[in-house]
Amino acid sequence: MIVVNSVSGLRGKLDTLKPSLLGFVPTMGALHEGHISLAARAKKDCPVMVVSIYVNPTQFNDKEDLKNYPRTIQSDIRLLKKHLRKNDIVFIPDDREIYPEPGTRKFSFGSLDRVMEALHRPGHFNGVAQVVSRLFEIVKPDIAYFGLKDFQQVAVIKSLVRQLSMKVRIEACPIIRESDGLAMSSRNRLLEPDIRRRAPVIRRTLIKAAEMINTKDIGGIRDYVKKTIELEKDFEVEYFEIADDEKLIPVSDRSEMKRDKRYYGCIAVRAGRIRLIDNIEITLA
Ligand code: PAF
Repeated sequence: MIVVNSVSGLRGKLDTLKPSLLGFVPTMGALHEGHISLAARAKKDCPVMVVSIYVNPTQFNDKEDLKNYPRTIQSDIRLLKKHLRKNDIVFIPDDREIYPEPGTRKFSFGSLDRVMEALHRPGHFNGVAQVVSRLFEIVKPDIAYFGLKDFQQVAVIKSLVRQLSMKVRIEACPIIRESDGLAMSSRNRLLEPDIRRRAPVIRRTLIKAAEMINTKDIGGIRDYVKKTIELEKDFEVEYFEIADDEKLIPVSDRSEMKRDKRYYGCIAVRAGRIRLIDNIEITLA
C-alpha cells in the first residue's frame, strides 16, 4: 500500500500505474468495518483503488461537530494495511491540497435540498458536493463506492455526477452493522457507554416500522417511531420519513406509494450529544 499526501504525488503514482479500472473510496477516517466493506468491493472490481482520508470542513454545519470528529490517522493506516494491496493508494491530503482556493462552488439538488438531512443540516450537502467533486477531479476514478447508511448523500452524489457529466459510476453499498444492530458509523465511538448500550433501539424500531406499513397509516407509524425511541432517556428523534430512493420525497399516506418504486424509512436521532442516522427498506405486501 502506498501513502501519499499531495495531489501531485497521487497523480504521479497513478500515471505510473495506469490501472485499467480505478476504484475510489472517499472517507473522513475513523475507519470501521463499514469502510472496509467498501474497500473490499473496490478490491473485487478494480485492480487499483484509492482510499482518501480527509475531514472536510465545508460539510460541517456545526463547528463543535467538526472539532469533535474522531481523527485516528495512525490506526486508520494500520487497518488499511491489512486490507489493501501493494499498489493501492491511501491519499491523506491537507486543506491546502483540497482547497487551494476557498471552497465556493454552489450546487443545487432540487427536492433533495428540501428534505431530511438537508433541512436539519443546512449547507451540509453543498459541502459534500464541493469535496466529492474536487476529489473526483483529482482522483479521476472509474467507480466510487459509498455506504447506504448515508442514504441521502448517495442520492445527492448521483445527482452531482449527472449535473457535472462526470464519467464515474457510483456504487451504493449495504449498511454494515454492529452485532446488536447499530449501523456502523465513525461517530459511534463518541457515544457515552450508557447511550451506546441503548442505541440499538433505533434499528429495532425501524424493523417494527417496516412491518407496520401494511397495517397502520403513515402518521401512526411516525408516532410509534418517535414515542418508542424517545422512551429512552436522552434520545430525541429529529425526523423519521418514508421516502422514495430517487427524489426522496416523503410520503404522508400509503396511497402515494407506487409499487414500481423503492421506499426507505429514514431517521435521524440525537442520542445524547451525538447525532445518528439510519434507514430501512419499506415494502408494501
Ligand atoms: O461519507 C463521508 O464520509 C463523507 O461525507 C465523504 C463522502 C467522504 C465526503 O467528505
